[in-house]
Amino acid sequence: MRNYASYYGIPFFTDKLNSDIIPNNLLSEMRNPNAAYWSNFYSDLHELPLEPSNFAFYTARFLQGLAEKNSYKNILDIGCGNGRDSYFLSSQGYTVTGIDLCSKIEVDNFQFLQKNILDHEFDGFDVCYLRFVIHTLTESECVQLFARLALMPPKTLIAFETRSTTNITKEEKLETFFKSPIGDEHFRMLYSKNYMDNMLENFIILESSDSADVAKFKTENPYCLRYFINPKL
Ligand SMILES: C[S@@+](CC[C@H](N)C(=O)[O-])C[C@H]1O[C@@H](n2cnc3c(N)ncnc32)[C@H](O)[C@@H]1O
Repeated sequence: MRNYASYYGIPFFTDKLNSDIIPNNLLSEMRNPNAAYWSNFYSDLHELPLEPSNFAFYTARFLQGLAEKNSYKNILDIGCGNGRDSYFLSSQGYTVTGIDLCSKIEVDNFQFLQKNILDHEFDGFDVCYLRFVIHTLTESECVQLFARLALMPPKTLIAFETRSTTNITKEEKLETFFKSPIGDEHFRMLYSKNYMDNMLENFIILESSDSADVAKFKTENPYCLRYFINPKL
C-alpha cells in the first residue's frame, strides 16, 4: 500500500483522523488519497467529456426495463465528477442528487453536494449510481461503502461501473498508479469479476459483466465491470 503522506506532509492513518483536531474539509481530503488529484482534475474543465457516459444510457435503459420502473424516481450519483451523467439522468425525468468531493461544479437542474461519500447518508434514494468511482477508492473505503449500501431497502437499485483487472493482471485485485489520456498519474484499485462477486455477498446481483468497448475514451478501451444489484433482505 502506497503511503499518501506526501499529499499533506503528515502520516496517513485513517482510523486516527479526528475532526476535533483537524478541520472537516481537510479531514475529508485526508481520508481519500485521490482528493487532491480530483480537485485539480476538475479545476480545468475544458478537456473533460460533457456528454453522458455509455453507462448512463445503459442504466437509463435498465431502469426502463424494470417491472416496477415507476417506483424509481430519486437517483444519487455518487462521485458525480463534472455532473455529466447527473444532467443526463435528470433529463430523463429522474430527480438527481450528485455528490462529489470536487467543488467546481455549478448546476441548475439537479442538486449537487460537495461531500465525502463516506460521510453521507444514503436514505431516501431509489437508485445509487456510481460510475468510475469504485476504482478511485481504496479497498477498505470500498468495503465501507458497500457495507453502507447493503443497509438500504432491498428494492434499492445500485448501478456501478468500474475498471477491471482483465488484460492488466491475472491477480484478483491490483493497486495501480497510471496515467489516463487526460490528467496525471493517479491511484486506481482494480478488481477481477470473481473478486467483486465475492465482495457483493450482501447483495443480489441482477446483472453483471466484464467487457471492453463500453468505456472507450481517446486511446483507452479498458475492460470494465458493470453491476446492477439490490441489497439482500
Ligand atoms: C473518475 S471520476 C468519475 C466521475 C463521473 N462519475 C464520471 O463518470 O464522469 C471519480 C470521481 O469520484 C470522486 N470521488 C472519489 N472519492 C470520493 C469520495 N470519497 N467522496 C466523494 N467523491 C469522491 C472524485 O472526486 C471524482 O470526481
